Amino acid sequence: MRQVHEREAARVAPAEASSYDICSDIPPHEYWSNDRDSAFYFEATVRNVFDATMNGARGLLLDVASGEGSQVRAFAHNKRVQPVGLEMSLPMIVHAHTVFERESVSAPLVRGSAHELPFRDGTFNRIVCQGSLDHFDVPRAFLAEAARVLAPDGRLVIALHNYDSASCRMSRALYRLRGILGVSRDDPTGASRPYWEIPENHTFRGNVATLREMTRRDFQPDRVFGVSMFWLLPMWRRVLRIVPSRAATAMLQAADRLAHRSPELGDMIVSVWRPRPRSGHFVLNRNGAATASRNGAPSDTANRVHNGHGPGSSGDGKQREEGHVVSRLTLEGDVE
Ligand SMILES: C[S@@+](CC[C@H](N)C(=O)[O-])C[C@H]1O[C@@H](n2cnc3c(N)ncnc32)[C@H](O)[C@@H]1O
Repeated sequence: MRQVHEREAARVAPAEASSYDICSDIPPHEYWSNDRDSAFYFEATVRNVFDATMNGARGLLLDVASGEGSQVRAFAHNKRVQPVGLEMSLPMIVHAHTVFERESVSAPLVRGSAHELPFRDGTFNRIVCQGSLDHFDVPRAFLAEAARVLAPDGRLVIALHNYDSASCRMSRALYRLRGILGVSRDDPTGASRPYWEIPENHTFRGNVATLREMTRRDFQPDRVFGVSMFWLLPMWRRVLRIVPSRAATAMLQAADRLAHRSPELGDMIVSVWRPRPRSGHFVLNRNGAATASRNGAPSDTANRVHNGHGPGSSGDGKQREEGHVVSRLTLEGDVE
């Protein structure tokens, strides 16, 4: 297995200059670690994405836009999976490599674009994309590619910050009201951009409805849930700061349970997707068994057979050494 992904990693085109060399729309983790709600949000996100990805996982796992490689590192500690990281930014990859070497983590990191995954059809058992879908110029191109390189029984896990969370909605409304009343409108996080505003380097507004709409063509939903609620909401933070630590934890956990049930209002959306079965080509082998290619992107053999360009081709597109095309069927078995 490891040989397979090392071979795939070696196929990547030479690195080009990237406009993604710096990624800093959310301040580093340490910045938040003293805030109870922020510490909870980050810890719960990482834990839930890890668990959702590892659930039933076995074999090759691709982390798309792997950043500094912290997730790849975590997956590499589990013997059931062999993680591969794909990232556009060279500095991110260099940083990840340094940490991997220091900690003796062995996992390939590939420089490439999410829009054009440099892997063969059906390679991965799991693909995870955390906090990055709304950084891609063409998110749908990534989703089509993810469906292609996932095995038919594979899963895609997408974690996306929710810009229509309860916290964002309430703060947006209060901000407007404060403007009308002439009250100070300082952002509680001290950042130059109010936290509920979509950062400039995001290509769409992250929320559940958009995610469902974007994935519909290539995926079916398996599970969509929210993580954490009320992150950064000023009044919530004020209360969390003054109550004893155990009460704060209980409040954060209760809000998190609400988010699980109502992902539309949670701070982070964690979603698990199954690739949609697509029409394919059924090919009869010499024993009379039918094999199917998937996702409308026929396997090498099926493609050669269908187009009549492979070894043994007679040129008429019908009779071949490997087998012959019997019909164009959907994978559910309907004749087209
Ligand atoms: C917010 S960071 C998330 C990184 C990591 N997944 C995490 O959770 O820490 C977004 C990442 O997406 C990467 N990125 C943006 N566009 C990309 C593309 N088209 N292909 C691959 N990576 C891309 C950026 O370089 C950056 O590392």
